[in-house]
Amino acid sequence: MTPEVPLTPEQLEVIRLTEAYVRDTLQGAEGGHDWHHTFRVWRNARHIASGEKVDGFIVELGALLHDIADSKFHGGDEEVGPRRARTHLESLGVAEEVIHHVERIVRHISFKGGHSDPDAFSSRELEVVRDADRLDAIGAIGIARAFSYGGHKGRAFYDPDVPPRPGMSKEEYKHSNAPTVNHFHEKLLLLRDLMHTDTARRMAEKRHRYMEDFLRQFHREWDGL
Ligand code: ADP
Ligand code: NI
Repeated sequence: MTPEVPLTPEQLEVIRLTEAYVRDTLQGAEGGHDWHHTFRVWRNARHIASGEKVDGFIVELGALLHDIADSKFHGGDEEVGPRRARTHLESLGVAEEVIHHVERIVRHISFKGGHSDPDAFSSRELEVVRDADRLDAIGAIGIARAFSYGGHKGRAFYDPDVPPRPGMSKEEYKHSNAPTVNHFHEKLLLLRDLMHTDTARRMAEKRHRYMEDFLRQFHREWDGL
């Protein structure tokens, strides 16, 4: 455990103003991507960061801004989020090196991009925010978010004739219309083993088992048992 470096009053003020900006921007956002999601990720990120040697200011800003403009809701444009994060932080006079790092966290956090990205960026701060975001995609909250998202998209929640397809490419994943239960096999059950930090791995373990129990019970009921 590294002792947490306390943030300066100026940094705390930037975080306070960023929280207000994100709350305001995400008003009316779809349930899985609203302010409450960001709030939970922010809290997870602070908790994970307290056991890591990372810059807490960058972690908090990255967590707060990570879903400021999800490309799914901006015609696939993956640059809106990073640009908004930059414009906001510039308006507060934040140092360029901090802005640059936060901008890259916002750009690279996504599950879709992570794997085959030729100019993949990584940093321990990004890993902490990514773990924090992934924790919110699993467990009871993850189940709620998945069905909320599927409902928003008008998808079936289950169809025994459409088998899951793990290992889809970024494009296939983006355009998949598969039932929501498939999403557990295509993404949610994979996340536990993709965590970067011990803290997140421990938290993920419980949430993972809860999803497995849920699926077992789901299929039992589906089969009339
Ligand atoms: P995040 O914002 O956590 O990085 P995404 O933007 O990929 O992740 O997804 C937001 C939420 O919507 C997550 O809880 C995720 O599981 C859910 N979701 C994304 N794609 C699907 C899908 N095809 N079916 C069901 N849920 C989905
Ligand atoms: Ni998110």
